[in-house]
Amino acid sequence: MKKEAGVHKAFRTAVVPAAGMGTRFLPATKTVPKELLPVLDTPGIELVATEAASSGAQRLLIVTSPGKDGVVAHFMDDFDLEKHLEARGKLRLLEKVRRAPNLLEVESVIQDTPLGLGHAVGCVEAALAPDEEAVAVLLPDDLVQPSGILETMARVRAKRGGSVLCAIDVPKSHVSSYGIFEVEEVPNVANPNVLRVRGMVEKPTLADAPSTLAAAGRYLLDRKIFDALRRIQPGAGGELQLTDAIALLINENHPVHIVVHRGTRHDLGNPEGYLRAAVDAGLNSDEYGDGLRKWLYERLARDTSDQT
Ligand code: G1P
Repeated sequence: MKKEAGVHKAFRTAVVPAAGMGTRFLPATKTVPKELLPVLDTPGIELVATEAASSGAQRLLIVTSPGKDGVVAHFMDDFDLEKHLEARGKLRLLEKVRRAPNLLEVESVIQDTPLGLGHAVGCVEAALAPDEEAVAVLLPDDLVQPSGILETMARVRAKRGGSVLCAIDVPKSHVSSYGIFEVEEVPNVANPNVLRVRGMVEKPTLADAPSTLAAAGRYLLDRKIFDALRRIQPGAGGELQLTDAIALLINENHPVHIVVHRGTRHDLGNPEGYLRAAVDAGLNSDEYGDGLRKWLYERLARDTSDQT
């Protein structure tokens, strides 16, 4: 019980940066925000909101850009649609349609200019209550499963203070796509996946990468991050990087830890990662799993016989 109380006090607001243009998904993203593309039948933003709500968040703060109103609209009630489904006895669909509006409170903050992830996170400061000492940030491109990593991160913050991030171990050839951690072991730690962060660098070359442990889109950030974000300069890609603000806090002896996630992580931000997430969800689905598995076997066997 004691642990639970600590976890729930850790944060109330979960921030979801969703202001990007989704260029890797053009032409689909000309009119449909990337965050609304479905994994099976559920938009990525709803998956992230479900994770945030189940980890104790009471409010989702979506950082969005002009013209992406549909992302927030997904969390509003649609009474006409609900009445229509109810009248036709489509109760399973009705339940699905009601899911998003009932998850948690949803608000949005506009990021007018695309100046980077650090800038996007900085945009939410004014929307936080004065007593919110920490905030969770969930990048909607990252699908981290099974969910539950934020609870572990909250327990680490309750015990060790400061900020806590989620990491995954990536192949060496991928380090230049991520924020990479320099870490050291924590003495006498019960969970060997908890490590202390000594430094962090955004999108390093392999030669400059201090490890293969990469930031995986889940952050539990102390409120001090906002002050650090005001003090950074544009970094990798000419953007204001969240990584650089975290690195600044580390240099100033603010405790930063990671929890290494050993489960699945899909990158919904590009078509290949998105497709993998869809196949994974399909295979795990009661409704589509058997049919999809059978078809995949047949389809792959056809590939093999074509090669012989
Ligand atoms: C962002 C972060 C990076 C992190 C990555 C995880 O990069 O800047 O540190 O490792 O998300 O997906 P982006 O993918 O937006 O370039």
